[in-house]
Amino acid sequence: MAFNFLCRCFVAAFLLPFVAAAAATSFQARCLLFAPEKYIQNSTLNILSFVPKGTNLTFPDNDATCARPYQVVSVDLCRVALSIPTSNRSSITYELWLPSTWTGRILATGNGGIDGCVRYEDLAYGTLNGFATYGSNNGHNGTTGLSFYRNPDIVQDFAWRALHTSVTSGKKLIKLFYQQSFRTSYYLGCSLGGRQGIKSSQKFPTDFDGIVAGSPAVDFNNLISWRASFFPITGSSTSTDFISSALWSVIHEEVLKQCDGIDGVMDGIIENPNLCHFNATAMLCPTSVSSNCLNAVQVGMVEKIFSPLLNGNGDLIYPAMQPGSELMAVQKLYAGAPFSYSQDWFRYVVYNNPSWDPATFTYLDSLAAESLNPFDIRTWPSLSDLRAFRNANGKMITFHGGQDNQITSFNTERFYDGLLAEAADDHSCQLDDFYRFFRVPGMFHCSAGPGGWVIGQQGGSPANGIAFNSSVNVLAAVVNWVENGVAPKSILGTKFVNDTVSLGIELQRNHCLYPLTSTYIGGDSTLPSSWSCS
Ligand SMILES: *[C@@H]1O[C@H](CO)[C@@H](O)[C@H](O)[C@H]1NC(C)=O
Ligand SMILES: *[C@@H]1O[C@H](CO)[C@@H](O)[C@H](O)[C@H]1NC(C)=O
Ligand SMILES: *[C@@H]1O[C@H](CO)[C@@H](O)[C@H](O)[C@H]1NC(C)=O
Ligand SMILES: *[C@@H]1O[C@H](CO)[C@@H](O)[C@H](O)[C@H]1NC(C)=O
Ligand SMILES: *[C@@H]1O[C@H](CO)[C@@H](O)[C@H](O)[C@H]1NC(C)=O
Ligand SMILES: *[C@@H]1O[C@H](CO)[C@@H](O)[C@H](O)[C@H]1NC(C)=O
Ligand SMILES: *[C@@H]1O[C@H](CO)[C@@H](O)[C@H](O)[C@H]1NC(C)=O
Repeated sequence: MAFNFLCRCFVAAFLLPFVAAAAATSFQARCLLFAPEKYIQNSTLNILSFVPKGTNLTFPDNDATCARPYQVVSVDLCRVALSIPTSNRSSITYELWLPSTWTGRILATGNGGIDGCVRYEDLAYGTLNGFATYGSNNGHNGTTGLSFYRNPDIVQDFAWRALHTSVTSGKKLIKLFYQQSFRTSYYLGCSLGGRQGIKSSQKFPTDFDGIVAGSPAVDFNNLISWRASFFPITGSSTSTDFISSALWSVIHEEVLKQCDGIDGVMDGIIENPNLCHFNATAMLCPTSVSSNCLNAVQVGMVEKIFSPLLNGNGDLIYPAMQPGSELMAVQKLYAGAPFSYSQDWFRYVVYNNPSWDPATFTYLDSLAAESLNPFDIRTWPSLSDLRAFRNANGKMITFHGGQDNQITSFNTERFYDGLLAEAADDHSCQLDDFYRFFRVPGMFHCSAGPGGWVIGQQGGSPANGIAFNSSVNVLAAVVNWVENGVAPKSILGTKFVNDTVSLGIELQRNHCLYPLTSTYIGGDSTLPSSWSCS
């Protein structure tokens, strides 16, 4: 592209000196002359600015609950921010970052929770690696669901329309800006963002050539219910038998005692949580209650927490929490307070009743949520639902942390197992040909944890402290799959000392193509060569 700009400038300098000075002398001038609002019907321009590398951008208008007040940008780019209406009572706030050094690739970024927060760190990460990168607020601002109340158009944006609108707008504007078609189109998201990616592969099979859909919030309605189910189990943090976070730390130690050694190495990482059948009774207080054991009521609570959510007939609504995530799960699901995303979804979407009481949650509420399923937000495609994506040569990668504290990794296994079973009956389709799943042992929800969790899945430090290549970076891996036809067989995950890049690498381990499991074969357990996938 740099060559292209020079060329155009050189020719123009002879033929049209005035235009050359105004339009083509520099990337900065080109940026400031762009008028994106002209090309997206009814849109409003909020920001058009040239951002030199090293700038610490601030977002004074961004909702404070998004907790993203600033972002350092590492390359020269042109920043576009638009409001784009999606109906007569809804709109998206849209950001498009156009790097001066462009690879011809474009990247859409996702959202999280039930939020309306642009992930500026992912925009910075995409542009750092040469993608023209965009994202939106998913149709509303901030981390609450209040905007959904009596406005189904905002729910529709949240379910799929904000992302699709972002893609159609992005593809159009990127082509106009660079005066050249993009080469390939990608998506990167985790959690709700993982669901958005999978939804898109089903509903808009040509929006993306490559998708990274991490820790996906698939089976969304039932996920909301599962998360709501913890508060009635734990009771409030002031109730008599409430399990404090200090006691959960002791439970975590017991989980590790019972399960960490199954994989042959005591390192805080449970390679395969399916093999961990935690026995809470082992923690029952012998005689008098002490702070290091559980009373009978608490044993019952822990057993319930590690059991699947079932309906009145004993049928599965949502799988159990996997053991190992206790230290993080105390922050939200086991905190003895309603889980805000679930509370808001029931109040403002399912029941249109702002005073619905989350302490009253039962499986009957989950049936109500699932039968409403607004705009098919459920997201549970069958193999045939993904056929158009496959036929368009789309490639998708899902990863899921083995110690996820917000979405149990067992649900993603259930989802992928269902697709594998369908594929086994369908000889025209190998699931691995277009959709691969990697478990990431010792990763919490989308990031962090004792395992080799840094796999290029998101922006920010230390997550983008690794090379952009297909052996260590999941986004680079999907690019390599799409553009060179090389499908990833494993992803090498990195754990930095104290999660600080400058302190060096603590361990690296290959994350295996599901259903293979990392197996210890001897030697220094922090080295990838001491493990194999089997
Ligand atoms: C743009 O606004 C006009 C007038 O409000 C409306 O008729 C039209 O449908 C809108 N178009 C889009 C794409 O939103
Ligand atoms: C960016 O600016 C914010 C305040 O506006 C400041 O708190 C933060 O430390 C700055 N970051 C860097 C890396 O300069
Ligand atoms: C979201 O916030 C932006 C300012 O950052 C504002 O322009 C927009 O109108 C807000 N959107 C909604 C749906 O409230
Ligand atoms: C907004 O659009 C809906 C259809 O999506 C229509 O029923 C409604 O009357 C419109 N409202 C206004 C104020 O134009
Ligand atoms: C659980 O632990 C208790 C106490 O150590 C023991 O009696 C019981 O047999 C164990 N249950 C299972 C299923 O292993
Ligand atoms: C990928 O990057 C790592 C370092 O982060 C390096 O060791 C490895 O050789 C690179 N692989 C390729 C294929 O470039
Ligand atoms: C890592 O962090 C812990 C606690 O934050 C600190 O005590 C320790 O000194 C740090 N280690 C290094 C090598 O910086």
